[in-house]
Amino acid sequence: MLVRLLYASRAVNTVNQEELVAILRKSKTNNPAMGVTGVLCFSEGIFLQALEGGRSAVNTLYNRIAVDPRHTQVELLCYDEISERRFAGWSMGQVNLGRLNPGLVLKYSEKSALDPFAVSGRASLALFDELMATASIVGQACRARLA
Ligand SMILES: Cc1cc2nc3c(=O)[nH]c(=O)nc-3n(C[C@H](O)[C@H](O)[C@H](O)COP(=O)(O)O)c2cc1C
Repeated sequence: MLVRLLYASRAVNTVNQEELVAILRKSKTNNPAMGVTGVLCFSEGIFLQALEGGRSAVNTLYNRIAVDPRHTQVELLCYDEISERRFAGWSMGQVNLGRLNPGLVLKYSEKSALDPFAVSGRASLALFDELMATASIVGQACRARLA
C-alpha cells in the first residue's frame, strides 16, 4: 500500500543553505530505512515537500515533520493512494532552484513566484513532474532496499 503526500509550509526563520543541507542530510539518513522517497523544494521562505512510501511510514514521518519548529503553517495539499512512485530515485531529492525558471512556475500558477498555497495540490505535483522531466531535481540516488 503506497501513498503520496504533498504539503507546503512556511519557514519560521530565514533558512540558509547550511540549515537546508542539515534537513536534507537528516532526510537522506532516515528515509531509506523507512522506505520513504521524495522531493523537497525551498524557495522564498516556503517549503514544498512530497513524501511517498508505505502509508504508515509516510503518515508517521509527516506527523513528525509537521511539528518541527523550523516551519509553521504546515498545510496538507494532496494525499493519494498510488500504484507506483514518482520519486523512487531519491531518498530526498532537492529542487535545483537555478533550474526553477519563472516560465515553468507560471505555467501552473497565476504568478511567476513559487506559491503552493495559492495553487492546487495537483498543480504543484505537475510542477514537480516537470522539474523531474527537465532534470532539475538533484540529490543522491536512493540506495535503500525498498522492500
Ligand atoms: C521542511 C522539513 C522537511 C523535513 N523532511 C524530513 C524528512 O524527509 N525525513 C526526516 O527524517 N526528517 C525530515 N525533517 C526533520 C524532521 O522534522 C525531524 O527533525 C527529524 O526527522 C528527526 O529525526 P531524528 O529523530 O533522527 O533526529 C524535515 C524537517 C523540515 C523542517
